[in-house]
Amino acid sequence: MKLKDFAIERYFAKYEFETEYLLSCSDCDGLSKEYLLSLGSPGEIRYWESLELGYNDTRGSHMLRDAIARHYQTIGNGNIVVSSPGEANFILMNLLLEKGDNVICMSPAYQSLYQVAESIGCSVSFWSAERNPDWYFDPERLRELIIPSTKLIIVNFPHNPTGFVPDRDEWEMIVKTAADNGIVLFSDEMYRGLVHNGHVDKTVPACDLYENGVSLWGMSKSFGLAGLRTGWLASHNIKLLDQAEAFKDYLSICNSPLNETLSTIALNNSKRIIAGNIEKIKRNLELFRQFQERNRWFCDFPEPIGGSTAFIRLLIREPAMEFAEKLVKETGIMLLPSETFNYGKKHVRIGFGRENFPEVLDKFEKYIRGKTGNALNR
Ligand SMILES: Cc1ncc(COP(=O)(O)O)c(C=O)c1O
Repeated sequence: MKLKDFAIERYFAKYEFETEYLLSCSDCDGLSKEYLLSLGSPGEIRYWESLELGYNDTRGSHMLRDAIARHYQTIGNGNIVVSSPGEANFILMNLLLEKGDNVICMSPAYQSLYQVAESIGCSVSFWSAERNPDWYFDPERLRELIIPSTKLIIVNFPHNPTGFVPDRDEWEMIVKTAADNGIVLFSDEMYRGLVHNGHVDKTVPACDLYENGVSLWGMSKSFGLAGLRTGWLASHNIKLLDQAEAFKDYLSICNSPLNETLSTIALNNSKRIIAGNIEKIKRNLELFRQFQERNRWFCDFPEPIGGSTAFIRLLIREPAMEFAEKLVKETGIMLLPSETFNYGKKHVRIGFGRENFPEVLDKFEKYIRGKTGNALNR
């Protein structure tokens, strides 16, 4: 299988560790190991200190899977396969899809969600974002996209990059659309729990609602622990999970016991960790709201409901990629342009999960104001 470059990841690879100010990250700041261990129970710390670094259970350690299962209503530790999030996505697509199948995926979307399917030879129908006036995905449109060869529906809520989250009725309609047609629903819930904007997270994971719902969650976004490379698939479709476990033999085989133990501690303290990240996101969102009011000529601001990002439209003449390239070279501020989402040339993603957001936004504002009146801007 030949895979196209992953444009978002390639763009990050170019600048993330070279430049000083990141304004588009989708993850929250990484928590320190010391902080995480300070949350561990005496039993967890004893386990950590005497940890043996051999191979681990391919499906994920029992301790970790027990901690994961407590975050679902109907899922037991046999309904889970642990792997890195990207690996889980890759495995699932390979297990479920064949050349000629049709897949429905949101647009814009994190590229791997549709790229692996495309590389297998599937046709991809895009469920496109609308403005209403904030970003919106209409469940009726999803239903209309289904054709006889549709084998998989891929959704991601809270959504990267728009921050859209369906309300309870809309979510039930989405799940029902998959169930009525007997189609597997792959629900990327990587930003689960990060819901703000006056809303509460009432979305029940897809795996708790539908026997062919497969939920993906992990440590990277909601917990600010991307370096642990821990994610998992949760589903009632045991046959599919058994196959995913067997597929993993050709990839990572098992996960690091170090990362699994730290992930267990994080999951057992999830409320506290996620609440801290939501607070930071809310503070940064408010700062961005004020920024946009002062600079209406520069961009709009469709408010996200959840997640850690927003997808704003630039009102300047320059294409987003050109603007982002100049910006990073002249100021060290990195923005992610919509060309990397294969979504036109007008948008950029803003990330709210970082502590230094106020400082970076301030530098950004100085930069764009310095350019006011410049022919590039309007
Ligand atoms: C929607 C979505 N799914 C999956 C992932 C992959 O997560 P990870 O980087 O931890 O592999 C990301 C990362 O940005 C994402 O935004």
